[in-house]
Amino acid sequence: MAEPILEMEHVVAGYGNTTVLHDVNIEIEDGQIACLIGPNGSGKSTLMKSIYGFADVMDGTITLRDREITGRSPQENLANGMSYVLQDASVFPGMSVHENMLMGGYVFEDDDRALARAEELYDEFPILGDIRDQQAGTLSGGQRRLLELARALMVDPEVMLLDEPSIGLEPKFIDDVFERIEQLNELGTTILLVEQNAQKGLSVADRGFVLASGEIKYTGSGEELLNDEEVGRLYLGG
Ligand SMILES: Nc1ncnc2c1ncn2[C@@H]1O[C@H](COP(=O)(O)OP(=O)(O)O)[C@@H](O)[C@H]1O
Ligand SMILES: [Mg+2]
Repeated sequence: MAEPILEMEHVVAGYGNTTVLHDVNIEIEDGQIACLIGPNGSGKSTLMKSIYGFADVMDGTITLRDREITGRSPQENLANGMSYVLQDASVFPGMSVHENMLMGGYVFEDDDRALARAEELYDEFPILGDIRDQQAGTLSGGQRRLLELARALMVDPEVMLLDEPSIGLEPKFIDDVFERIEQLNELGTTILLVEQNAQKGLSVADRGFVLASGEIKYTGSGEELLNDEEVGRLYLGG
């Protein structure tokens, strides 16, 4: 296996006195899409939060390239190549699409950099450029999700964490979101994705992980997990 870009080793994490993750070990290769699946409450969001600094890491280490980032704050992570689209991500409804985009670059020291980066992203996602002056609160579900994804790209992240990007979307927008995720990945971003639509998530993933009761139960390529009889029966509703 190539050098992992993101690695968790023996991670124990949770909130205060509550331990949610027990000895989690995962490796994600540079340029991959990795998908984490598992039942509700198994700790998927907590795993993402422990990487990003929103949950407490009690033991173990998290490494981004060759830098240990265990316990680093979300702000530091955003300024250092990692962005995170929360499960309940939201846009600022009273602001325009463009103003929302600029918020995604708030860690930049100069405003010109954010403006230039927004223009690059409008080139990449012309649909967003077309609606840049529209108030975000008036967007359709699919447009809003695209804005959330593009806003997280403002910092040109090496790694993006996406928690349930298809949740709450009408079915007709779901394929579109997965196409966007593949497009982001082709632009060079490594992606760790949590997905309740496990079939769909694993089908775009180079690597899959099954989390249950705070432990990684299976690891394999997306295809291996999709074809695994036990994973199918227990976690894919098959
Ligand atoms: N902020 C929090 N404080 C304490 N416990 C939490 C917090 N957030 C989540 N939990 C608990 O952690 C467990 C895993 O939750 P979560 O990571 O959200 O699971 P998933 O994303 O797989 O549905 C659940 O038992 C949940 O109640
Ligand atoms: Mg969750």
